[in-house]
Amino acid sequence: MKDVFILGIETSCDETAASIVKNGRQILSNVINSQVAIHQQFGGVVPEVASRKHIENIAVVVNTAFLEAGLSHEEIDAVAVTTMPGLVGALLVGLSFAKAFAYGLNRPLIAVNHLQGHIYANFLEHGNIEFPAVCLVVSGGHTSLLYMKGISDYELIGSTKDDAAGEAFDKVARFLGLGYPGGPAIQKAADQGQAGLYHLPRVFLDRNDFEFSFSGLKTAAMNLWRKMEKSGNNRVEDLAAEFQAALVEVLVEKTIRAANKYGVENILLAGGVAANRDLRTRLGESARQRQLNLYFPSLLLCTDNAAMIAGKAYHDYVNGHFAPLNTNAQPSLFSL
Ligand code: KG4
Ligand code: ZN
Repeated sequence: MKDVFILGIETSCDETAASIVKNGRQILSNVINSQVAIHQQFGGVVPEVASRKHIENIAVVVNTAFLEAGLSHEEIDAVAVTTMPGLVGALLVGLSFAKAFAYGLNRPLIAVNHLQGHIYANFLEHGNIEFPAVCLVVSGGHTSLLYMKGISDYELIGSTKDDAAGEAFDKVARFLGLGYPGGPAIQKAADQGQAGLYHLPRVFLDRNDFEFSFSGLKTAAMNLWRKMEKSGNNRVEDLAAEFQAALVEVLVEKTIRAANKYGVENILLAGGVAANRDLRTRLGESARQRQLNLYFPSLLLCTDNAAMIAGKAYHDYVNGHFAPLNTNAQPSLFSL
């Protein structure tokens, strides 16, 4: 089969990203324009600001992706774009651009689920990983465990009842005044602190299922901080370390239990929170002790990017799964 070059576009949150990937595997360019510095001043993503910034950036980001790949527009075979889930205004910028681009070039449009893109980052990084596998998807908006029999063939075996893991990191960091995004900020503070000096709950660890809940942990961390401050203790680093430990322990334990229950040898980690060093290390250690393999993407491919979108789209291209030009954005749909 001839080589397939796919342009991927990702604008679901606060990163304007474009990438060209060859044959679902080789990243020729991976351009990410992050709006973090803009949203930082508000303590979180402001949806309207994100949409406007995507509009300003998208053409430059896409052109840079072509320049870095050394390809002309005509050399791509399809245009892939994130259509769900995400901020609706943000998604619509990428989707409208992708539709116009695909129409102008007379190439097919491919709609990609952002979370499937996150999972696919593992295949971009490691090539073919054997199925079946268990995958923990942990991002700003989602926390789910999947039993996977193929790249597009899987079953949701558990998810969060309330806050996503990344959301809990972001909200607690904001409350503690550690800044945005919260995950890296808490990780940095935790590096200087000690877990175990205080105790925060390991929520749902006693339940024999694969559901998660992080809202109670978030509130417990906030209440503990109020108490600490009242008693004149402002060692935010120790609180950050205990919060991270409590959250990571639940993720690790439930993922290992899922791997055992489903009898798989391979575990995948995906989404922005997969960048967390403590999570990578602890899940890696637990997996090794049980002779299981853990795969996670490099840091750049863990957080939002368009290479994972172009990569996932290759499999849709090969299977002829194209999207019509009246495809709409689906903001909150979680159809994993
Ligand atoms: O996947 P992602 O880039 O965007 C979404 O699809 O949501 O994930 C963003 C989330 C944010 O909540 C951010 O705080 C978290 O990933 N994150 C981390 C780390 N880096 C990013 N959480 C914990 N530790 C990190 N090092
Ligand atoms: Zn994401």
